[in-house]
Amino acid sequence: MSALARAGGELTLDGVSLEGIAREFGTPCYVYSRAAIEAAFRDFDEGLGGIDHLVCYAVKANSTLAILHLLQRLGAGFDIVSGGELARVMAAGGRADRVIFSGVGKSEAEMRMALAAGIKCFNVESEPELERLDAVARSMGKVAPVSIRINPDVDAKTHPYISTGMAGNKFGIPHDRAIDVYHRAARLANLRVTGIDCHIGSQILETAPLDEALDRVLDLTARLEAEGIRFEHIDLGGGIGIRYRDETPPDVRAYAARLAARLKDRGYQVLLEPGRAIVGAAGVLLTRIEYLKLDKARHFAVVDASMSELLRPALYQAWHDIVPVKERDGAARASFDVVGPVCESSDVLGTDRALAVQAGDLLAILSAGAYGMAMSSNYNSRPRPAEVMVDGGRALLIRARESLESLFALEKIVDAR
Ligand code: LLP
Repeated sequence: MSALARAGGELTLDGVSLEGIAREFGTPCYVYSRAAIEAAFRDFDEGLGGIDHLVCYAVKANSTLAILHLLQRLGAGFDIVSGGELARVMAAGGRADRVIFSGVGKSEAEMRMALAAGIKCFNVESEPELERLDAVARSMGKVAPVSIRINPDVDAKTHPYISTGMAGNKFGIPHDRAIDVYHRAARLANLRVTGIDCHIGSQILETAPLDEALDRVLDLTARLEAEGIRFEHIDLGGGIGIRYRDETPPDVRAYAARLAARLKDRGYQVLLEPGRAIVGAAGVLLTRIEYLKLDKARHFAVVDASMSELLRPALYQAWHDIVPVKERDGAARASFDVVGPVCESSDVLGTDRALAVQAGDLLAILSAGAYGMAMSSNYNSRPRPAEVMVDGGRALLIRARESLESLFALEKIVDAR
């Protein structure tokens, strides 16, 4: 669904004026549509409706409490990668028994925290991690539920920085090692094998690699079951892409329904870990033009957002559509590089954008709901932006703009003697 619309030349989100939001909360500012997040979650949840399933939202995509709270109310589980994300899920009212813990570098303290909370499963990514988890669980008199993350060695056909399921990459356990590792896990007294998982990458636009990964996982479960290892759930990770420019992402509901049909008679609970596909299209970043800098060689629109607020263009050369919130009737368009104030050549939010704009105009950077705020930083001592949720015709502040004092609140001046 598209929450964005033009009313009288002015861009609105679920009927709420974005210019009004920028005036009330300032810029730069992230704005999310509650209805769009809910609809995207339901596509997964209802698509899998015919079978036992749990949609575990990947918290890393956007970990703001109000978003986690909304998803937990819809019945989501959560895929976390740190103790910090677990703390966020709990603070948002999430249920520990719906949390799965992914990531290659879980610390002892994080394992202890997750065991104490009683999470659903640890997605283990290496043999040393298996040993450590067993030891931590033993020291607490607990048994840790585990799944082994399989690296199925399939090419997700996405950007190399976000492709994770090929041989030679740091994630998961090679497919051909998996049988041994499962037997090892089964022998460790304080572990209980409950699942199997994989995640092959992000911003995936074709379902063929996902299907191939599933084939490989099912092939393994069949072999392991023949050797006496039982599974309660199968977790196929996240990674479904969204439209940033002109991509045609898979239809989520149809993909989920196909999965459900395929896995229906196997008796496993089916887990997915979508992040981007739930929140990505639901958010925009509002930014105001500070200056137009009309150099001979290039025209720049210098805006008040930067790579500190939205890193994706600088880090992955990612494309985000950039549109004026109010259109200027009849004004001629020119080609602009939309750049931020940060002192880095890579602080570019969009190159060669045809825009009819003037200083002071408000721009919306689209599809910024995933890996936007979550990857923001304070670089150049920039306070993180405000976040607003549009819900039922109202604009609600869900995270205040950081104050200047908060930038150095943890710091201490010491005099060198
Ligand atoms: N599960 C695991 C184990 C993951 O590593 C990830 C993402 C997900 C689920 C969720 O993937 P999604 O459904 O959002 O594609 N910062 C990058 C994306 C990094 C993704 C990392 N892992 C970006 O802005 O494109």
